[in-house]
Amino acid sequence: MGGAAPALCGARAITAAIFSAPFAYSAVKKTSIALSIAMAALLLLAGCREDMQVQPRINPLRISDFYGDSRSARPLVDGTIARGQLRNDSYFYTGMVGKDPGNEMPFPVTREVLQRGRERFNIFCAPCHSELGDGNGMVVQRGYRRPPSYHIDRLRNAPLGHFYDVISNGFGVMPDYAAQVPPHDRWAIVAYIRALQLSQNAPASLVPAGTALPPALPSSVLPNNFVAAQPRKIEEQEPLEKK
Ligand code: HEC
Repeated sequence: MGGAAPALCGARAITAAIFSAPFAYSAVKKTSIALSIAMAALLLLAGCREDMQVQPRINPLRISDFYGDSRSARPLVDGTIARGQLRNDSYFYTGMVGKDPGNEMPFPVTREVLQRGRERFNIFCAPCHSELGDGNGMVVQRGYRRPPSYHIDRLRNAPLGHFYDVISNGFGVMPDYAAQVPPHDRWAIVAYIRALQLSQNAPASLVPAGTALPPALPSSVLPNNFVAAQPRKIEEQEPLEKK
């Protein structure tokens, strides 16, 4: 490439075209001449090759003879870890101790953690499991397989790591929520599910003595399979110390 075309590039080409045009025509003709000049300038400019445009480069994943393996893209150096992706705490990321689910929270459960867990649970899990965790969510009411209630003995006794694992890897027909819920939020949800389970199964001994319990809801406002604990009269409750 090269030769005459680059010499006519850019502003010089336009100036040359304008100065070579005759000036003495009528206004109408002037306009059309101006137009043709502009077109000619455009055509000339289109042929221009600037150095930045022709510098050597390689299209992504194109073959190259520069490296011995013929690949232009270089493989990652062994052991490269992207920022924020170092997973050196395997319990935090899997919920497993060896092959079995563990039963500990990997960080302390604070009020904020539970609030975050409730928020995430109500967004990602309640559509199927319902806000009560009884498995009667809206999606289920529209025909999806009904999940087991969290308030059955098997799930009440299931270790925390099991819930973490179900969110991370799915369970039966339930898809996993690994992409939607990052690890810290999964644990927050797990902690909240435990709180939810306790909320439906708390022993009266946990109620501070003298606390008035709310009246039972009329059964018409409760879901069919939901059995609310009947509040007992305060004088019937065992004192806190007694187990
Ligand atoms: C699209 C509906 C749907 C959503 C959303 C959903 N689940 Fe499930 N879940 C199910 C179904 C259905 C089952 C029962 C699967 C089976 O037994 O095949 C289930 C089962 C479970 C179980 C019981 C596993 C066992 O041991 O029986 C747990 C725990 C659970 N889900 C947790 C969650 C959590 C936590 C979330 C939110 C991050 C969630 N699910 C979101 C549908 C859903």
